[in-house]
Order: sequence, then C-alpha cells, then structure tokens
Amino acid sequence: MTKIKEIPLLELKPKSFIKTKINEIASMVGDGFAVNALSGGVDSSVVTMLGFKALGARLKTCFIDSGLMRHKEPQYVVSIFKKMGVPVELIDAKKQFFDALKGVEDPEKKREAITHVFYKIVFGDLVKKSSAKFLLQGTNYTDVEETVAGIKRQHNILAQLGIDTKEAYGYHVLEPLIELRKSGIRKIGKALGLPDELYKRPPFPGPALSARVIGEVTPERVEIVRKATKIVEEELSDTGAFQYLAILHEDRVTGITKGKRDFGLQIEVRCWESTDAKIAVPTRLSHDKLMKLGDRITAGVPGVVSVTYNIARKPPSTIEAI
Ligand code: XMP
Repeated sequence: MTKIKEIPLLELKPKSFIKTKINEIASMVGDGFAVNALSGGVDSSVVTMLGFKALGARLKTCFIDSGLMRHKEPQYVVSIFKKMGVPVELIDAKKQFFDALKGVEDPEKKREAITHVFYKIVFGDLVKKSSAKFLLQGTNYTDVEETVAGIKRQHNILAQLGIDTKEAYGYHVLEPLIELRKSGIRKIGKALGLPDELYKRPPFPGPALSARVIGEVTPERVEIVRKATKIVEEELSDTGAFQYLAILHEDRVTGITKGKRDFGLQIEVRCWESTDAKIAVPTRLSHDKLMKLGDRITAGVPGVVSVTYNIARKPPSTIEAI
C-alpha cells in the first residue's frame, strides 16, 4: 500500500500537472488499451479528458448505467462528451446492481456490493472483452482519507485497502487525481477546457442514489429518491452550495393523504457549504425556500408525507446518508 501525499490547492500548477499526468498515463499504458470509468461527476470528467488526451482512440470510455443514477443522467453525460468529440459507450448494468443490492441494508455492505459489481463484474467483463490491461478512474484525496480513517469505504478505494486489483479483477487501476481534493480537480478541469457545466457540477457519489437510500435499495425506492432529487436540484442549484441532496428514510410516519390516515415516507433534504467535503456546514436556506421544497416534494413524490432539513454539521454528520 503506497502512502499518498496531497498536493494542496495553492501548490497546484495546472499546466505542469496536466502535462505530467498525460505523460504518465501514456507511458503506463504503452501501446495498449485502457478502459475509463466515466460517471459524469467532476472527477471522472477530468480523468476522461486527461485519458483522452493521452491515449485518444485507445481509451474506451464507459458510462455504467447502474439504475442508481439521477433523472436522465446517462443520456446527459453521453451527449455532453459527444459534443467534445469523446465517444462514450453506455453500458446497461441495472440488473447486476439491483441483484447485488437485494436484501442488503447495512451501509458498508451496500458499498461493498457496489464495489464488487463495478470492478469484478462490469469492468472485469469490459476489460476482458477489450483486452485492456488498465482501468482509469477519478479517485480523489478525500476518498482515500475517509476510507483509510475508517469513516466510509468509498466505492472506488482499492489499493489503499490492500486490494491488488490485478489479482482480484485482472487489471491495473490508474488514478491520476488521487493527490487532489475537489477544489484542485475543478482547477484542472477548467485548465483542460471542460465546459463550466461539467467542472462546476456539485459532487455526486460513485454509489449514486444508493448512498441516499436508507435501508434496502430497490428500483422502486430509488425512483422515489430520484424524483425528490430532481426537485431538490431544481430548487437549490441557484444557491451556489457545494452539494445538495435528498435522502429517503426507512422509518415511516403518520400523515394525511386525501383526508385519510397515511403511514407515509420521509424525505430529508441536505444542502452543504464546503470547499473540500472534509468539513461542511448546512446552508442557511430561507424559510420560503424550505417551505417550497416541502410543498413540491410532498406534492410531487407519491407516498411522501414528511420533509425535513438537516441542520447538523460534518463532522459529526457526513455529506451522504450511508
Ligand atoms: P461523505 O458522505 O463521506 O462524502 O461526507 C464526502 C464526499 O464524497 C462523496 N462520496 C463519494 N464519492 N464514492 C465517491 O466517488 C463514494 O463511495 C462516495 N461516498 C461519498 C460525497 O458525495 C461527498 O462529496
């Protein structure tokens, strides 16, 4: 296990960082192929551009549709990269993910299941088929830190947990952004010429909406959180907050639907001020905004009778729910 050293934002020189990483990727992959995991988040978008500049057509970029993504996310990500001349293959892996998540309630077990499906099943298969020996991905410094500290097993941490990816999955993993935090990665994204809408996107976790479902992750429960997420993103995108999200709780509460008792669902809204996700504070949303969120979520998401806003800081909270 190698110890990673952070490159602090003030010491980061985007031009030379980009040049070094392109050279490193090109020399590691040699004249072979690499598969690239694009989720559409800032980190994986930046990695995609670095990999594309280093390898061109020898980089096979894949977007895995796990069934856990936001509303129309797969189509959005594929089309935005197409406009930049980067071909992206959309892989339908919904069944594999939901099968692996069936009956799993423990947060860390969910994360393990996601890691297994991503790396062993989906990418293992893609790498085998394409004869690639490398997988390129956007792990960042905060992911490593939280996993090593035992806070959360971030889905993309492998070597730092002592996993030999060549032995376990059949390929090497390249992580060119591992020394950077989100603010540094945004700086690289800007220097690479990515459109604002990509490098300024709020972070989104690798386990996607499953990180926002407490209890079992089923297609139906993901659909509920997906609908609430769409409303939260529409309402809060103008706040400039670091991240905003909706969480589906497992406990039900008594409510009233069409004049009758309804033992309904609870959605929790979180909105965070942060620069690097290491510490975070809830945004001071106006009461009007909060009321609008409550009204839209109870009206627009069937079964929801309660909406709450998180007021705890990270730490002791964390940004995502699981
Ligand atoms: P937490 O919830 O640990 O999140 O406070 C810190 C930041 O990391 C994102 N996050 C993840 N990103 N894989 C990722 O790629 C993961 O497993 C994962 N879990 C959390 C989260 O959205 C926040 O920005």
